[in-house]
Amino acid sequence: MTADRSSSDAPWWRDAVVYQVYVRSFADVNGDGTGDLAGVIDRLPYLRELGVDALWFSPWYPSPMADSGYDVADYRAIDPSFGTLELAEALIREALVMGIRSIVDIVPNHVSDQHPWFRAAVAADPGSPHRDRFWFRAGQGPRGESPPNGWQSIFGGPAWTRVKDADGEPGEWYLHLFAPEQPDLNWTNPDVVRDHEEVLRFWFDRGVAGIRIDSAALLVKAPDLADETPDAKPGDHPFTDRDELHEIYRRWRAIADSYVEPRLLVGEIWLPDAERFARYLRQDELHTAFNFDFLACPWEPVALRTSIDSTLAAHAPVTAPATWVLANHDVTRTVTRYGRSDTSFAFEAKREGTPTDLRLGNRRARAGALLAMALPGSMYVYQGEELGLPEVEDISSEQRQDPMHFRSGGLDPGRDGCRVPLPWSGDRPPYGFSPAGARAPWLPQPDGWGRLTVAAQSADPDSMLSLYRAALGLRRRELRASDGFAWLPSEPTVLSFTRGARFACVVNLGIDPVALPTGADVLIASQELASGRLPQDAAAWLRLPESKE
Ligand code: GLC
Repeated sequence: MTADRSSSDAPWWRDAVVYQVYVRSFADVNGDGTGDLAGVIDRLPYLRELGVDALWFSPWYPSPMADSGYDVADYRAIDPSFGTLELAEALIREALVMGIRSIVDIVPNHVSDQHPWFRAAVAADPGSPHRDRFWFRAGQGPRGESPPNGWQSIFGGPAWTRVKDADGEPGEWYLHLFAPEQPDLNWTNPDVVRDHEEVLRFWFDRGVAGIRIDSAALLVKAPDLADETPDAKPGDHPFTDRDELHEIYRRWRAIADSYVEPRLLVGEIWLPDAERFARYLRQDELHTAFNFDFLACPWEPVALRTSIDSTLAAHAPVTAPATWVLANHDVTRTVTRYGRSDTSFAFEAKREGTPTDLRLGNRRARAGALLAMALPGSMYVYQGEELGLPEVEDISSEQRQDPMHFRSGGLDPGRDGCRVPLPWSGDRPPYGFSPAGARAPWLPQPDGWGRLTVAAQSADPDSMLSLYRAALGLRRRELRASDGFAWLPSEPTVLSFTRGARFACVVNLGIDPVALPTGADVLIASQELASGRLPQDAAAWLRLPESKE
């Protein structure tokens, strides 16, 4: 691999900017209303100009799309609606020529119910080796009519579905922590272990720089499938954060390290306990994991300061770099979240339809972007974040796709609102997402996105896109992974810190405009300064004067 981000000696991933491509909604070249790999290849110059170091592709494998690709039917191929394996290889190569690495999404907790293994398991008899790759169990009750235990699916409803026997009679139940179309794999089965290790090599051999590991803390289940207990100690939960997981990731790390340029392992680990979280980042396990504490943090100075401090404190003992994430394909779009009175994120409370001030949200998202980009570690940008796209809230129930919406009986709006196809140009749908005459996009785009397109924003120096381009360029030039972080004294409503000797970031969350340090040059600001002062909900990067000592 030839991509080289900076002259610093630190491995590339310690301070990389990783852009999440949700292929289905990125760019549609063949006109079927679904984004495709040809679309990503076509827009690589856009990504290079944006200034990102790597692309993380949400699952692009063959899938019935019961959970938008997170139900994988074959880990070694590409969904025909996205393209072919040859095209994926070309994309990985061409991106690398532009200095951009690729990260693929590995979904080890479950497969699609259309995966050959699960089809074989359903067709096989109870107790067969085919069924042992999953969690098939007899039900409770005289006729086995109740699920084997009380676990609930993360998408709502019971985590078990019953299959029929060959004679058509109700048979065993199988476990699915997510949708019924996503049966959980049994990680004590050697086939499961071996196949995943082969899949890792399959993609590493094709030049991908790393993997993002989906639902990384859920793979291992308590062998007795015990019910959840409210007072379980960390590590005792029957299906979250089990100690046996670490051995799986140690083996994966050894595979990643066996390449001349070691491959990167990034975990999707939602855990409230910072110490348990950091265990996954020990030297012989994963390199980094998403920082969901920061993602869910409200736009509030004390909470943000606490989140930053606890993030850095948790990572320090394992010497892993932090990651800074404001959004992804599962959560409310940042400008919408930051425009509400409660600016935190929680799955249980995705308040669609709550009053939202998008101008305020946009202003805070601009400041939040400068904050996240200035912090030490790597940074994730979810496609459309650089355009300041809001959550799309007016998708009708018939047009929604997300199982989270349906399995909650329609109570949860689901995640479609942050997955709407990108607007590239023009003033009406499909806004350059698809070519002329194409089928309508798989999720409807709203009216009024003409001013949010890449074309419109490229022409506007004050746009979110212009801010991202300028700030990512500055980040690359001004910051090194080794630049130390230190808070500067400030009022409690201001976050002010240095990176290295002369770079500073100031974020004002208070009502009163704040003065900037004397003699500092402003490198970039998220809002115009008012008489040299930084207004509310704004951030600035500064070059400090040389110290006189
Ligand atoms: C992860 C993905 C999410 C998916 C789930 C099940 O949380 O980010 O989109 O629905 O895993 O695979």
